[in-house]
Amino acid sequence: MSTSNKRLLVVVTGGIAAYKAPEIVRRARSRGAEVRVVMTPAACEFITPLTLQAVSGNPVHTELFDAAAEAAMGHIELARWADEVLVAPASADFLARLAHGLAGDLASTLCLATAAPLTVAPAMNRLMWDNAATRANVALLAARGVRMIGPEAGEQACGEVGPGRMSEPEAIVGALFDALPAGGLVGLRVLITAGPTQEPIDPVRFITNRSSGKMGYAVATAAAAAGARVTLVSGPTALAAPAGVDVRRVTTAAEMYEAVMAEVAAHDIFIASAAVADYRPEAPATQKMKKAGAALTLTLAPTQDILRAVAAREVPPFTVGFAAETEHVLENARSKLTGKSLDMIAANEVGAGMGFDSDENELHVIWQDGDTLLGRASKNSIARRLVELIAARYRAVRG
Ligand code: CTP
Repeated sequence: MSTSNKRLLVVVTGGIAAYKAPEIVRRARSRGAEVRVVMTPAACEFITPLTLQAVSGNPVHTELFDAAAEAAMGHIELARWADEVLVAPASADFLARLAHGLAGDLASTLCLATAAPLTVAPAMNRLMWDNAATRANVALLAARGVRMIGPEAGEQACGEVGPGRMSEPEAIVGALFDALPAGGLVGLRVLITAGPTQEPIDPVRFITNRSSGKMGYAVATAAAAAGARVTLVSGPTALAAPAGVDVRRVTTAAEMYEAVMAEVAAHDIFIASAAVADYRPEAPATQKMKKAGAALTLTLAPTQDILRAVAAREVPPFTVGFAAETEHVLENARSKLTGKSLDMIAANEVGAGMGFDSDENELHVIWQDGDTLLGRASKNSIARRLVELIAARYRAVRG
């Protein structure tokens, strides 16, 4: 875990997720950061300035025209003081203000007046997140270099389920403090597969698996943060497209194969994190199958191995596979590394709350003449370390 003495300005805007702000401040301070907090008037409806004053150890600023606060540390001084600015939670309204350069209150004025890097952790109802206005604001901010952390998909305070929940404080602070050496993948194009595939049995039924896509999406986010141009070929997931990543959505293994083969020549690195179905129903019924009393036998046909096909190309990209194993993790992964002619393989033991459909993971990463263990941590943190390793190995073997 890295520590720092950076000066972090945390801007808290209005939303239920404001209750997580004190935990962010506490964790940032435990990493050695000096923290000052600014709240919007709406944020003060959800949590009191006194709480954030207590955890940050500094007075909390809320008003643009507060003579006493301006005398102690004026808003321009505060904007200059920060090494980094984090907006968490960032409401839809605040993202819109940022995108349009509004400066009607202290929080937005500071974001406009600072030269420090800006990171936002959005939190809002899933429909607000998916709204075209928010999508456009997020794209504009990402294009200007604003870094996004989350949001995550899941159950929301409003009772709905979908993308819009603020990332957990641990993930946000990890992203701020465990940053990659800037630009490890600058100038490179990275193609990533993620999620499960669905193989139709008939028009209403399919075979799939428990993959959530979280690991692949986290790898895509980390690769983009490291400066790569990222294309993500995703099976069906509940996850929002990571900012700045070109997402192609597919359903079946055959569609994923086609999408990858159409893209691969234009990419330098291929990372296969998808849980592609190894088999599909050989002859999906065109009409809904009716139940009959007797047992039903489905004939399954093998799908194409996308990873193997990419690695077997005449000029393959730097190719990274994943291996989910329930036993003999290292031996099985090593034999996949050589069997499929990969440059690297990331193996994990599935089960015990890790791997499929969980928020944490542990990976054993193996290449021709070395290996390293990325110990149990959040998928976001593991993804950043994996991307760092891929960047280092790529530079070592491809220059
Ligand atoms: N993979 C792929 N296309 C497939 C199947 C798998 O690209 N049709 C990729 C996965 O994305 C992953 C790796 O291959 O990177 C997994 O390797 P694989 O040997 O298929 O693993 P398992 O399916 O777990 O194999 P086994 O059943 O032999 O353990």
